[in-house]
Amino acid sequence: MTQRQLTPLATLPHLQAPQPALDPTLAEFRPEAPALPSFFVWTLGCQMNQSDSEEMAGQLLGVGCERSASIDDADLVVINTCAVREHAEAKVIGRQGLLADLKRTKPGMRVVLAGCGVRQSERAGLAKRFPAVDLFLRPDEEPELALRLGLVSAQAPVGLRTADTAATTVLGGRTVGAADRLAASRASAVTEGRVARSSTFSAWLPIVYGCDKTCTYCIVPFARGPERSRPFDEIVAEARQIAAAGYVELTLLGQNVNSYGHDLPAEERFGHIDTRRSAGRRLDLRARPDLAELMRAVDAIRGEDGEPAIPRLRFITSHPWDLSDRLIEAMDECDSVCEHLHLPIQSGDDEMLRRMGRQYTVAHYLERLERLRSAIPGLAVSTDVIVGFCGETRAQFEATLRLLEEVRYDTVFAAAYSPRPGTAALQLADDVPPEEKRRRLNELLRCQEAIGLERNREWLGRDVEVLVEQVTPTRRRLDPTDGDTDDADLPASPVPVLAGTAGEGSVALAGRTRHNKLVHLAGHPDLVGQRVRVHIEYAGPFALRGHLVEAQDQPDVFA
Ligand code: SAM
Ligand code: SF4
Ligand code: F3S
Repeated sequence: MTQRQLTPLATLPHLQAPQPALDPTLAEFRPEAPALPSFFVWTLGCQMNQSDSEEMAGQLLGVGCERSASIDDADLVVINTCAVREHAEAKVIGRQGLLADLKRTKPGMRVVLAGCGVRQSERAGLAKRFPAVDLFLRPDEEPELALRLGLVSAQAPVGLRTADTAATTVLGGRTVGAADRLAASRASAVTEGRVARSSTFSAWLPIVYGCDKTCTYCIVPFARGPERSRPFDEIVAEARQIAAAGYVELTLLGQNVNSYGHDLPAEERFGHIDTRRSAGRRLDLRARPDLAELMRAVDAIRGEDGEPAIPRLRFITSHPWDLSDRLIEAMDECDSVCEHLHLPIQSGDDEMLRRMGRQYTVAHYLERLERLRSAIPGLAVSTDVIVGFCGETRAQFEATLRLLEEVRYDTVFAAAYSPRPGTAALQLADDVPPEEKRRRLNELLRCQEAIGLERNREWLGRDVEVLVEQVTPTRRRLDPTDGDTDDADLPASPVPVLAGTAGEGSVALAGRTRHNKLVHLAGHPDLVGQRVRVHIEYAGPFALRGHLVEAQDQPDVFA
């Protein structure tokens, strides 16, 4: 038992609200003290974590807890951690003092640490690293959140009461089996309305958990275990529910989203699927559903007008090795699939890719990209790059710069290599000095800035469909939960935005095109969640700016 025993939250003194003065004759009917904590979820990391947080928040709301607007006011803080780089973990460790102070002033406060920072192999040391934390939950244990906190009553929905996880199997420090109930608990959460989606117009939909790849630098397979695909029909049912709720955008999620389905049983109805993987380990994928099939099924959910009920369909993250011709065809043929693909390359040098365990060569990557671009002209492409990985020479780094020049990505997310516990790369010397990593990172970002500007200028003078996502915050909040990624990964937006140019009550808005271009515009706050037509008049390296042409979300105007 590694987690400390919690005092059931229901009995904590500070949570006992003062009782209303009642007529003494009614004493026996006096209601029980309202004792449910208010909660705050602090989410770091990727889209999968954001989705997981929506599910945890849904559990807490489902048992009657309320959201708190800030960490300071919350009785229960849930930190959904990322461990992809040391910096991400250090951020949470750095907040332990603040959390401890809050707990001193509020002795009943509880802190839960969930997500990729909770790895079975390192469980014994967690309490020491995170002294302010009361309960640790691995990603596959998150469905137990409310249960472990003692918040689930006998009247709770069955899914919550019985949520349990079988033991995770760890072999030599590596998670080889996670016999969990993630798929089952997701399905019941969806059916019972216990997914507290953070947006009313853009939805996450996890389709495959974990990762089977063996990238030598990466902690994800240790944190999230092997790949487990959700049943095909459950995903389509969730997409239908999302469509019925009026969502405009849906993103299918997986660490390696395009390997979806290889672990599901073969079925007669998928008999037309006859794919074998052409590189590396051979897998017989006959008659098993794949991402292409799933995409077509989601795209086939149509409105009364015959148009896709969810007009924008995205998927992230794709591994180049699993990018099949079938998938490219589906991307081309499905109206709702957006003209953007995130396809991480990591390095432009074959020897580095081999050392990273990426299973493809630069030539293979470029062949896939060429096929994609000829099938979907104008496709926007983004990527991930790691600089300063073990043994990377100047010449190998320059090969990555040349690759960027050749591919001309729309966006590059770059980070310096950060050694992670338990990963295979720890056997290699981390021999690029930190200052050299930083230099290479800056050089790469400068190179991409020029390319990004050139790519963005192609949009000048054009009308584009923008899904307005938010009123642009006037300044970054000075909040411990603000921002979760290394700064180097975040292209800052240098595009100046002026509110007040689009009529009375207009504010600075930001949204995205189907090509995933960030667009700034001025307009009424009511436009958030709507698709609008925008005329592009300014292009920067990381974003565009334009003015509103059409203000209504009318699908036909974009035909
Ligand atoms: N599954 C995706 C793929 O195939 O590339 C990526 C998922 S990973 C969580 C997101 C990105 O983090 C990776 O693409 C990689 O660039 C970066 N990353 C992972 N481990 C890293 C490490 N140890 N140091 C620096 N960056 C890392
Ligand atoms: Fe990590 Fe590689 Fe899996 Fe991506 S594919 S999550 S980089 S192990
Ligand atoms: Fe995502 Fe970070 Fe985990 S990127 S999968 S939250 S390690």
